[in-house]
Amino acid sequence: MTPKDVVRRGRLAGERTGEMTQFLSSMNADRYIADADILVDMAHVLMLHKQQIIDRETAATLLRALLEFYDEGIPEAAFDEGFEDIHAGIESILIGIAGEEAGGRLHIGRSRNDEVATCIRMRLREDITKQMAILARIRQVLLELAARHEATVMPGFTHFQHAQPTTLAHHLLAHESAFARDYQRLSQALGRVNRCPLGAAAFASTGYPINREYTAGLLGFDGLVVNTMDAVSSRDFGLETLAHLSLMMTHTSRLYEEMILWSSPFIRFVSLDDAFCSTSSIMPQKKNPDTAEIMRAKAASVLGAFVAASATLKALPLSYNRDLQELTVNLWRGVRDAKHSSGLLAGMLETATFNTERMREEAGRGYSTTTDLADMLVRRLNLPFRTAHSIVGRAVQKGGLDLSTLDSASVEISGEALSTRGITVADVGQALDVEAAIASRKAPGGPSPVAVKSAIKEQQAELEKDREELERINEAYSRAVSALIRDAGRLAGE
Ligand code: ARG
Repeated sequence: MTPKDVVRRGRLAGERTGEMTQFLSSMNADRYIADADILVDMAHVLMLHKQQIIDRETAATLLRALLEFYDEGIPEAAFDEGFEDIHAGIESILIGIAGEEAGGRLHIGRSRNDEVATCIRMRLREDITKQMAILARIRQVLLELAARHEATVMPGFTHFQHAQPTTLAHHLLAHESAFARDYQRLSQALGRVNRCPLGAAAFASTGYPINREYTAGLLGFDGLVVNTMDAVSSRDFGLETLAHLSLMMTHTSRLYEEMILWSSPFIRFVSLDDAFCSTSSIMPQKKNPDTAEIMRAKAASVLGAFVAASATLKALPLSYNRDLQELTVNLWRGVRDAKHSSGLLAGMLETATFNTERMREEAGRGYSTTTDLADMLVRRLNLPFRTAHSIVGRAVQKGGLDLSTLDSASVEISGEALSTRGITVADVGQALDVEAAIASRKAPGGPSPVAVKSAIKEQQAELEKDREELERINEAYSRAVSALIRDAGRLAGE
Protein backbone atom coordinates (compact mmCIF):
# COMPACT_ATOMS: atom_id res chain seq x y z
CA MET A 1 0.00 0.00 0.00
CA THR A 2 1.25 3.47 -0.84
CA PRO A 3 1.87 5.52 2.31
CA LYS A 4 -0.25 8.62 2.72
CA ASP A 5 1.35 11.67 1.17
CA VAL A 6 0.67 14.58 3.53
CA VAL A 7 1.36 17.10 0.80
CA ARG A 8 -1.40 15.91 -1.53
CA ARG A 9 -4.04 14.89 0.93
CA GLY A 10 -5.77 18.28 1.39
CA ARG A 11 -6.15 19.65 -2.08
CA LEU A 12 -6.21 16.71 -4.40
CA ALA A 13 -8.48 13.76 -4.77
CA GLY A 14 -8.52 10.82 -7.09
CA GLU A 15 -6.27 7.84 -7.45
CA ARG A 16 -3.28 8.01 -9.73
CA THR A 17 -2.07 5.05 -11.66
CA GLY A 18 1.21 3.53 -10.58
CA GLU A 19 2.66 4.58 -13.88
CA MET A 20 1.74 8.21 -13.35
CA THR A 21 2.96 8.24 -9.77
CA GLN A 22 6.25 6.83 -10.87
CA PHE A 23 6.50 9.29 -13.72
CA LEU A 24 6.00 12.24 -11.39
CA SER A 25 8.15 11.09 -8.53
CA SER A 26 11.75 12.17 -8.22
CA MET A 27 12.33 9.51 -5.58
CA ASN A 28 14.97 7.64 -7.53
CA ALA A 29 17.14 10.70 -7.91
CA ASP A 30 16.23 11.90 -4.41
CA ARG A 31 18.04 9.02 -2.74
CA TYR A 32 21.10 11.02 -3.59
CA ILE A 33 19.98 14.07 -1.58
CA ALA A 34 18.15 12.29 1.25
CA ASP A 35 20.99 12.70 3.78
CA ALA A 36 21.31 16.37 2.93
CA ASP A 37 17.55 16.73 3.42
CA ILE A 38 17.79 15.56 7.03
CA LEU A 39 20.44 18.20 7.75
CA VAL A 40 18.35 20.86 6.04
CA ASP A 41 15.35 19.80 8.16
CA MET A 42 17.41 20.04 11.35
CA ALA A 43 18.76 23.48 10.50
CA HIS A 44 15.25 24.67 9.69
CA VAL A 45 13.88 23.37 13.01
CA LEU A 46 16.73 24.95 14.97
CA MET A 47 15.98 28.25 13.25
CA LEU A 48 12.22 28.03 13.85
CA HIS A 49 12.95 27.53 17.53
CA LYS A 50 15.59 30.25 17.76
CA GLN A 51 13.16 32.69 16.18
CA GLN A 52 10.42 31.53 18.56
CA ILE A 53 8.25 30.36 15.71
CA ILE A 54 7.90 26.91 17.30
CA ASP A 55 8.24 26.06 20.99
CA ARG A 56 11.06 24.11 22.55
CA GLU A 57 9.07 20.93 22.98
CA THR A 58 8.00 20.82 19.33
CA ALA A 59 11.55 21.47 18.22
CA ALA A 60 12.87 18.76 20.53
CA THR A 61 10.33 16.22 19.26
CA LEU A 62 11.16 17.00 15.64
CA LEU A 63 14.89 16.93 16.24
CA ARG A 64 14.73 13.63 18.11
CA ALA A 65 13.07 12.00 15.11
CA LEU A 66 15.46 13.65 12.67
CA LEU A 67 18.52 12.65 14.70
CA GLU A 68 17.28 9.10 14.71
CA PHE A 69 16.99 9.22 10.93
CA TYR A 70 20.50 10.66 10.84
CA ASP A 71 21.97 7.97 13.12
CA GLU A 72 19.97 4.93 12.10
CA GLY A 73 19.21 5.79 8.50
CA ILE A 74 16.03 7.15 7.00
CA PRO A 75 13.19 4.60 7.17
CA GLU A 76 12.79 2.84 3.83
CA ALA A 77 9.11 3.78 3.84
CA ALA A 78 10.13 7.41 3.21
CA PHE A 79 11.48 6.33 -0.18
CA ASP A 80 8.21 4.90 -1.44
CA GLU A 81 7.57 6.09 -4.97
CA GLY A 82 4.03 6.89 -3.92
CA PHE A 83 5.56 10.09 -2.56
CA GLU A 84 6.30 12.81 -5.05
CA ASP A 85 9.72 13.20 -3.61
CA ILE A 86 11.89 12.56 -0.58
CA HIS A 87 10.78 15.81 1.04
CA ALA A 88 7.16 14.65 1.07
CA GLY A 89 8.33 11.18 2.10
CA ILE A 90 10.34 12.31 5.11
CA GLU A 91 7.70 14.78 6.27
CA SER A 92 4.97 12.16 5.97
CA ILE A 93 6.94 9.53 7.88
CA LEU A 94 7.92 12.10 10.48
CA ILE A 95 4.28 13.05 11.06
CA GLY A 96 3.54 9.34 11.39
CA ILE A 97 6.21 9.02 14.09
CA ALA A 98 6.01 12.33 15.93
CA GLY A 99 2.33 13.03 15.41
CA GLU A 100 0.68 15.85 13.50
CA GLU A 101 0.92 18.25 16.45
CA ALA A 102 4.72 18.41 16.26
CA GLY A 103 5.45 16.78 12.87
CA GLY A 104 2.95 19.01 11.13
CA ARG A 105 5.03 22.07 12.09
CA LEU A 106 8.23 21.02 10.33
CA HIS A 107 7.28 22.75 7.11
CA ILE A 108 6.38 26.15 8.60
CA GLY A 109 7.80 28.98 6.50
CA ARG A 110 9.34 26.71 3.95
CA SER A 111 8.58 25.08 0.62
CA ARG A 112 9.99 22.08 -1.14
CA ASN A 113 11.26 24.59 -3.67
CA ASP A 114 13.82 26.17 -1.36
CA GLU A 115 14.31 22.85 0.39
CA VAL A 116 15.30 20.94 -2.75
CA ALA A 117 17.52 23.73 -4.05
CA THR A 118 19.35 23.70 -0.71
CA CYS A 119 19.76 19.92 -0.74
CA ILE A 120 21.08 19.93 -4.31
CA ARG A 121 23.64 22.60 -3.50
CA MET A 122 24.82 20.73 -0.40
CA ARG A 123 25.21 17.48 -2.27
CA LEU A 124 26.83 19.15 -5.25
CA ARG A 125 29.43 20.96 -3.18
CA GLU A 126 30.50 17.57 -1.85
CA ASP A 127 30.67 16.14 -5.36
CA ILE A 128 32.70 19.09 -6.56
CA THR A 129 35.26 18.73 -3.78
CA LYS A 130 35.50 15.01 -4.50
CA GLN A 131 36.05 15.78 -8.16
CA MET A 132 38.69 18.32 -7.20
CA ALA A 133 40.43 15.64 -5.15
CA ILE A 134 40.35 13.28 -8.14
CA LEU A 135 41.84 16.00 -10.32
CA ALA A 136 44.52 16.70 -7.73
CA ARG A 137 45.52 13.04 -7.80
CA ILE A 138 45.63 12.94 -11.60
CA ARG A 139 47.80 16.05 -11.55
CA GLN A 140 50.10 14.49 -8.97
CA VAL A 141 50.56 11.33 -11.03
CA LEU A 142 51.26 13.38 -14.16
CA LEU A 143 53.85 15.46 -12.29
CA GLU A 144 55.55 12.37 -10.90
CA LEU A 145 55.67 10.75 -14.32
CA ALA A 146 57.02 13.97 -15.79
CA ALA A 147 59.78 14.06 -13.17
CA ARG A 148 60.73 10.52 -14.09
CA HIS A 149 60.78 11.38 -17.79
CA GLU A 150 62.44 14.79 -17.85
CA ALA A 151 64.94 13.57 -20.43
CA THR A 152 62.80 10.96 -22.18
CA VAL A 153 62.87 11.96 -25.82
CA MET A 154 59.77 11.43 -27.92
CA PRO A 155 58.30 12.77 -31.14
CA GLY A 156 55.99 15.71 -30.75
CA PHE A 157 53.01 15.68 -33.09
CA THR A 158 50.98 18.11 -35.09
CA HIS A 159 48.24 16.66 -37.27
CA PHE A 160 49.28 13.37 -35.68
CA GLN A 161 52.42 13.40 -37.78
CA HIS A 162 56.03 13.68 -36.65
CA ALA A 163 56.57 17.38 -36.05
CA GLN A 164 59.47 18.18 -33.72
CA PRO A 165 61.10 16.13 -31.00
CA THR A 166 60.08 16.83 -27.44
CA THR A 167 60.24 15.15 -24.05
CA LEU A 168 57.62 12.92 -22.49
CA ALA A 169 57.72 15.23 -19.48
CA HIS A 170 56.79 18.17 -21.69
CA HIS A 171 53.83 16.24 -23.11
CA LEU A 172 52.59 15.13 -19.69
CA LEU A 173 52.98 18.63 -18.29
CA ALA A 174 50.72 19.94 -21.05
CA HIS A 175 47.96 17.61 -19.84
CA GLU A 176 48.64 18.63 -16.24
CA SER A 177 48.27 22.28 -17.18
CA ALA A 178 44.82 21.64 -18.64
CA PHE A 179 43.74 19.70 -15.55
CA ALA A 180 45.01 22.50 -13.31
CA ARG A 181 42.67 24.89 -15.15
CA ASP A 182 39.80 22.41 -14.81
CA TYR A 183 40.53 22.36 -11.11
CA GLN A 184 40.45 26.15 -10.94
CA ARG A 185 37.15 26.29 -12.78
CA LEU A 186 35.52 23.84 -10.39
CA SER A 187 36.93 25.71 -7.43
CA GLN A 188 35.44 28.95 -8.73
CA ALA A 189 32.09 27.28 -9.38
CA LEU A 190 32.10 26.01 -5.83
CA GLY A 191 31.94 29.56 -4.56
CA ARG A 192 28.67 30.06 -6.41
CA VAL A 193 27.26 26.61 -5.61
CA ASN A 194 27.79 27.00 -1.88
CA ARG A 195 25.13 29.66 -1.32
CA CYS A 196 21.99 28.98 0.64
CA PRO A 197 18.51 29.31 -0.90
CA LEU A 198 16.72 28.35 2.32
CA GLY A 199 14.13 30.86 3.47
CA ALA A 200 12.96 31.56 -0.06
CA ALA A 201 10.01 29.22 0.55
CA ALA A 202 7.94 28.87 -2.62
CA PHE A 203 9.70 31.93 -4.09
CA ALA A 204 8.36 34.92 -2.13
CA SER A 205 9.94 34.00 1.21
CA THR A 206 7.59 34.02 4.18
CA GLY A 207 5.93 36.35 6.65
CA TYR A 208 7.46 34.47 9.60
CA PRO A 209 10.40 36.22 11.22
CA ILE A 210 12.89 33.69 9.84
CA ASN A 211 16.65 34.01 10.08
CA ARG A 212 18.20 33.07 6.77
CA GLU A 213 21.80 33.81 7.77
CA TYR A 214 21.47 31.45 10.71
CA THR A 215 20.34 28.43 8.66
CA ALA A 216 22.94 29.21 6.01
CA GLY A 217 25.65 29.22 8.68
CA LEU A 218 24.39 26.00 10.28
CA LEU A 219 24.62 24.23 6.94
CA GLY A 220 28.11 25.49 6.15
CA PHE A 221 27.13 27.80 3.31
CA ASP A 222 29.28 30.80 2.44
CA GLY A 223 26.24 33.05 2.26
CA LEU A 224 22.78 33.35 0.76
CA VAL A 225 21.26 33.23 -2.66
CA VAL A 226 19.74 36.53 -1.70
CA ASN A 227 16.83 37.11 -4.07
CA THR A 228 14.24 34.55 -3.04
CA MET A 229 12.84 34.10 -6.52
CA ASP A 230 16.33 33.54 -7.87
CA ALA A 231 16.97 31.16 -4.98
CA VAL A 232 14.30 28.67 -6.05
CA SER A 233 14.48 29.08 -9.81
CA SER A 234 18.16 29.36 -10.61
CA ARG A 235 20.10 26.28 -11.63
CA ASP A 236 23.03 27.94 -13.36
CA PHE A 237 25.14 26.68 -10.47
CA GLY A 238 24.40 23.17 -11.74
CA LEU A 239 24.84 24.06 -15.39
CA GLU A 240 28.21 25.67 -14.84
CA THR A 241 29.33 22.64 -12.86
CA LEU A 242 28.27 20.39 -15.73
CA ALA A 243 29.95 22.71 -18.22
CA HIS A 244 33.21 22.55 -16.26
CA LEU A 245 32.91 18.79 -15.86
CA SER A 246 32.20 18.43 -19.53
CA LEU A 247 35.30 20.45 -20.35
CA MET A 248 37.32 18.38 -17.91
CA MET A 249 36.01 15.22 -19.58
CA THR A 250 36.97 16.64 -22.96
CA HIS A 251 40.49 16.95 -21.59
CA THR A 252 40.49 13.44 -20.14
CA SER A 253 39.22 12.11 -23.47
CA ARG A 254 42.23 13.56 -25.26
CA LEU A 255 44.52 11.74 -22.87
CA TYR A 256 42.53 8.51 -23.16
CA GLU A 257 42.66 8.84 -26.90
CA GLU A 258 46.44 9.08 -26.73
CA MET A 259 46.64 6.06 -24.48
CA ILE A 260 44.55 4.15 -27.02
CA LEU A 261 46.67 5.27 -29.96
CA TRP A 262 49.98 4.93 -28.16
CA SER A 263 49.16 1.39 -27.03
CA SER A 264 48.34 0.36 -30.60
CA PRO A 265 50.86 -2.10 -32.11
CA PHE A 266 51.41 0.53 -34.80
CA ILE A 267 52.88 2.93 -32.27
CA ARG A 268 53.83 0.98 -29.11
CA PHE A 269 54.71 3.97 -26.96
CA VAL A 270 52.84 2.63 -23.99
CA SER A 271 51.60 -0.61 -22.60
CA LEU A 272 48.54 -0.37 -20.37
CA ASP A 273 48.23 -2.60 -17.35
CA ASP A 274 46.17 -5.73 -18.07
CA ALA A 275 43.66 -4.66 -15.42
CA PHE A 276 42.62 -1.81 -17.72
CA CYS A 277 42.34 -4.00 -20.80
CA SER A 278 40.00 -6.63 -22.22
CA THR A 279 40.49 -9.42 -24.67
CA SER A 280 38.44 -10.76 -27.55
CA SER A 281 35.98 -13.62 -27.35
CA ILE A 282 37.24 -14.94 -30.69
CA MET A 283 40.73 -13.52 -31.27
CA PRO A 284 42.91 -15.01 -28.55
CA GLN A 285 45.81 -12.65 -29.10
CA LYS A 286 43.91 -9.45 -28.35
CA LYS A 287 44.63 -6.97 -25.59
CA ASN A 288 42.25 -4.09 -26.09
CA PRO A 289 42.24 -0.74 -24.25
CA ASP A 290 38.52 -1.01 -23.43
CA THR A 291 38.63 0.98 -20.21
CA ALA A 292 40.10 3.97 -21.97
CA GLU A 293 37.50 3.57 -24.71
CA ILE A 294 34.60 3.65 -22.28
CA MET A 295 36.20 6.60 -20.54
CA ARG A 296 36.51 8.35 -23.89
CA ALA A 297 32.81 7.74 -24.50
CA LYS A 298 31.85 9.04 -21.06
CA ALA A 299 32.99 12.47 -22.17
CA ALA A 300 30.03 12.36 -24.54
CA SER A 301 27.65 11.34 -21.73
CA VAL A 302 28.71 14.24 -19.55
CA LEU A 303 28.38 16.66 -22.43
CA GLY A 304 24.94 15.14 -23.08
CA ALA A 305 23.98 15.73 -19.46
CA PHE A 306 25.07 19.36 -19.78
CA VAL A 307 23.10 19.83 -22.99
CA ALA A 308 19.98 18.19 -21.55
CA ALA A 309 20.17 20.26 -18.37
CA SER A 310 20.77 23.52 -20.26
CA ALA A 311 17.91 22.80 -22.63
CA THR A 312 15.66 22.22 -19.63
CA LEU A 313 16.44 25.61 -18.16
CA LYS A 314 16.24 27.44 -21.46
CA ALA A 315 13.15 29.67 -21.72
CA LEU A 316 11.77 28.40 -18.43
CA PRO A 317 9.72 31.21 -16.89
CA LEU A 318 10.41 32.19 -13.29
CA SER A 319 10.11 30.93 -10.70
CA TYR A 320 9.90 27.22 -9.83
CA ASN A 321 8.67 24.80 -12.47
CA ARG A 322 8.62 21.06 -12.11
CA ASP A 323 10.92 20.81 -15.13
CA LEU A 324 13.72 21.58 -12.69
CA GLN A 325 13.26 18.16 -11.17
CA GLU A 326 14.31 16.64 -14.47
CA LEU A 327 17.30 18.96 -14.69
CA THR A 328 18.56 17.50 -11.42
CA VAL A 329 18.47 13.97 -12.86
CA ASN A 330 20.85 15.09 -15.59
CA LEU A 331 23.01 16.94 -13.11
CA TRP A 332 23.61 13.79 -11.06
CA ARG A 333 24.13 11.70 -14.16
CA GLY A 334 26.85 14.03 -15.42
CA VAL A 335 28.47 14.33 -12.00
CA ARG A 336 28.48 10.55 -11.55
CA ASP A 337 29.88 9.73 -15.00
CA ALA A 338 32.59 12.35 -14.64
CA LYS A 339 33.57 11.04 -11.23
CA HIS A 340 33.64 7.39 -12.22
CA SER A 341 35.62 7.77 -15.37
CA SER A 342 38.10 10.40 -14.21
CA GLY A 343 38.50 8.45 -10.98
CA LEU A 344 40.20 5.63 -12.86
CA LEU A 345 42.58 7.79 -14.83
CA ALA A 346 45.30 8.25 -12.21
CA GLY A 347 45.53 4.46 -11.77
CA MET A 348 45.71 3.90 -15.50
CA LEU A 349 48.61 6.33 -15.84
CA GLU A 350 50.40 5.06 -12.75
CA THR A 351 50.38 1.46 -13.93
CA ALA A 352 51.18 2.16 -17.57
CA THR A 353 54.62 1.26 -18.92
CA PHE A 354 56.13 3.80 -21.26
CA ASN A 355 58.33 2.38 -23.99
CA THR A 356 61.04 5.00 -24.03
CA GLU A 357 63.10 3.18 -26.65
CA ARG A 358 60.26 3.27 -29.14
CA MET A 359 59.73 6.95 -28.40
CA ARG A 360 63.40 7.74 -28.99
CA GLU A 361 63.36 5.72 -32.19
CA GLU A 362 60.48 7.77 -33.61
CA ALA A 363 61.72 11.12 -32.29
CA GLY A 364 64.19 11.60 -35.12
CA ARG A 365 61.98 10.23 -37.86
CA GLY A 366 59.88 12.22 -40.30
CA TYR A 367 62.51 14.95 -40.74
CA SER A 368 61.58 16.14 -37.27
CA THR A 369 64.62 18.41 -36.82
CA THR A 370 64.43 20.28 -40.11
CA THR A 371 63.19 23.40 -38.30
CA ASP A 372 66.53 23.39 -36.48
CA LEU A 373 68.38 23.01 -39.77
CA ALA A 374 66.54 26.01 -41.21
CA ASP A 375 67.27 27.95 -38.01
CA MET A 376 70.97 27.12 -38.35
CA LEU A 377 71.00 28.48 -41.92
CA VAL A 378 69.32 31.67 -40.72
CA ARG A 379 71.91 32.12 -38.00
CA ARG A 380 74.95 31.15 -40.02
CA LEU A 381 74.14 32.74 -43.37
CA ASN A 382 71.83 35.53 -42.16
CA LEU A 383 69.12 34.22 -44.50
CA PRO A 384 65.51 35.28 -44.09
CA PHE A 385 63.72 32.41 -42.32
CA ARG A 386 61.35 31.90 -45.23
CA THR A 387 64.28 31.38 -47.62
CA ALA A 388 65.91 28.84 -45.32
CA HIS A 389 62.50 27.15 -44.82
CA SER A 390 62.11 26.86 -48.60
CA ILE A 391 65.59 25.45 -49.13
CA VAL A 392 65.12 22.73 -46.51
CA GLY A 393 61.59 22.03 -47.71
CA ARG A 394 62.83 21.59 -51.27
CA ALA A 395 65.55 19.18 -50.06
CA VAL A 396 62.90 17.12 -48.28
CA GLN A 397 60.89 17.12 -51.49
CA LYS A 398 63.96 15.82 -53.29
CA GLY A 399 64.20 13.06 -50.72
CA GLY A 400 67.21 13.81 -48.52
CA LEU A 401 69.02 16.14 -46.16
CA ASP A 402 72.56 15.28 -47.23
CA LEU A 403 74.65 18.29 -48.15
CA SER A 404 74.56 17.68 -51.91
CA THR A 405 70.75 17.52 -51.95
CA LEU A 406 70.64 20.64 -49.77
CA ASP A 407 73.03 22.34 -52.18
CA SER A 408 70.89 21.64 -55.23
CA ALA A 409 67.78 22.73 -53.32
CA SER A 410 69.54 25.92 -52.32
CA VAL A 411 70.60 26.61 -55.91
CA GLU A 412 66.97 26.23 -57.02
CA ILE A 413 65.63 28.50 -54.30
CA SER A 414 68.36 31.12 -53.87
CA GLY A 415 70.73 30.62 -56.77
CA GLU A 416 73.64 29.59 -54.57
CA ALA A 417 74.78 26.33 -52.95
CA LEU A 418 75.12 26.11 -49.17
CA SER A 419 78.55 24.49 -49.28
CA THR A 420 79.96 27.37 -51.28
CA ARG A 421 78.84 29.62 -48.46
CA GLY A 422 80.74 27.55 -45.91
CA ILE A 423 78.14 25.06 -44.65
CA THR A 424 79.74 21.66 -43.97
CA VAL A 425 78.47 18.13 -43.55
CA ALA A 426 79.24 18.43 -39.84
CA ASP A 427 77.15 21.63 -39.56
CA VAL A 428 74.18 19.85 -41.09
CA GLY A 429 74.64 16.81 -38.83
CA GLN A 430 74.80 18.98 -35.72
CA ALA A 431 71.73 20.97 -36.67
CA LEU A 432 69.74 17.79 -37.16
CA ASP A 433 70.73 16.29 -33.80
CA VAL A 434 67.59 15.39 -31.84
CA GLU A 435 68.99 15.81 -28.32
CA ALA A 436 70.58 19.13 -29.26
CA ALA A 437 67.29 20.34 -30.74
CA ILE A 438 65.47 19.61 -27.49
CA ALA A 439 68.21 21.01 -25.26
CA SER A 440 68.17 24.30 -27.18
CA ARG A 441 64.51 24.89 -26.37
CA LYS A 442 65.03 26.46 -23.00
CA ALA A 443 62.31 29.11 -23.12
CA PRO A 444 59.85 28.90 -20.21
CA GLY A 445 57.36 26.12 -20.82
CA GLY A 446 59.53 24.48 -23.47
CA PRO A 447 60.62 20.85 -23.77
CA SER A 448 64.27 21.04 -22.74
CA PRO A 449 65.05 19.12 -19.57
CA VAL A 450 66.06 22.40 -17.92
CA ALA A 451 62.77 24.12 -18.77
CA VAL A 452 60.80 21.04 -17.86
CA LYS A 453 62.49 20.76 -14.47
CA SER A 454 61.49 24.25 -13.46
CA ALA A 455 57.97 23.76 -14.87
CA ILE A 456 57.53 20.67 -12.71
CA LYS A 457 58.58 22.67 -9.68
CA GLU A 458 56.14 25.47 -10.41
CA GLN A 459 53.24 23.21 -11.28
CA GLN A 460 53.87 21.10 -8.16
CA ALA A 461 53.83 24.23 -5.98
CA GLU A 462 50.53 25.24 -7.55
CA LEU A 463 49.12 21.81 -6.80
CA GLU A 464 50.22 22.00 -3.16
CA LYS A 465 48.42 25.33 -2.80
CA ASP A 466 45.28 23.86 -4.36
CA ARG A 467 45.41 20.85 -2.06
CA GLU A 468 45.71 22.97 1.06
CA GLU A 469 42.76 25.06 -0.06
CA LEU A 470 40.70 21.92 -0.67
CA GLU A 471 41.51 20.59 2.77
CA ARG A 472 40.35 23.86 4.34
CA ILE A 473 37.09 23.70 2.39
CA ASN A 474 36.37 20.10 3.37
CA GLU A 475 37.17 20.82 7.00
CA ALA A 476 34.79 23.78 7.02
CA TYR A 477 31.95 21.62 5.67
CA SER A 478 32.44 18.83 8.14
CA ARG A 479 32.88 21.27 11.02
CA ALA A 480 29.54 22.86 10.12
CA VAL A 481 27.78 19.50 9.99
CA SER A 482 29.25 18.38 13.35
CA ALA A 483 28.20 21.65 14.96
CA LEU A 484 24.71 21.29 13.50
CA ILE A 485 24.34 17.75 14.87
CA ARG A 486 25.67 18.91 18.24
CA ASP A 487 23.20 21.82 18.41
CA ALA A 488 20.34 19.59 17.33
CA GLY A 489 21.33 17.03 19.98
CA ARG A 490 21.36 19.67 22.68
CA LEU A 491 17.94 20.96 21.84
CA ALA A 492 16.60 17.44 21.50
CA GLY A 493 17.70 16.94 25.09
CA GLU A 494 20.23 14.24 24.49
N1 ARG B 1 10.98 16.99 -6.34
C1 ARG B 1 11.00 18.37 -6.64
C2 ARG B 1 12.27 18.72 -7.40
O1 ARG B 1 13.15 17.94 -7.46
C3 ARG B 1 10.91 19.15 -5.37
C4 ARG B 1 10.14 20.43 -5.46
C5 ARG B 1 8.70 20.19 -5.70
N2 ARG B 1 8.00 21.42 -5.75
C6 ARG B 1 6.81 21.52 -6.31
N3 ARG B 1 6.29 22.68 -6.31
N4 ARG B 1 6.20 20.52 -6.85
O2 ARG B 1 12.40 19.78 -7.95
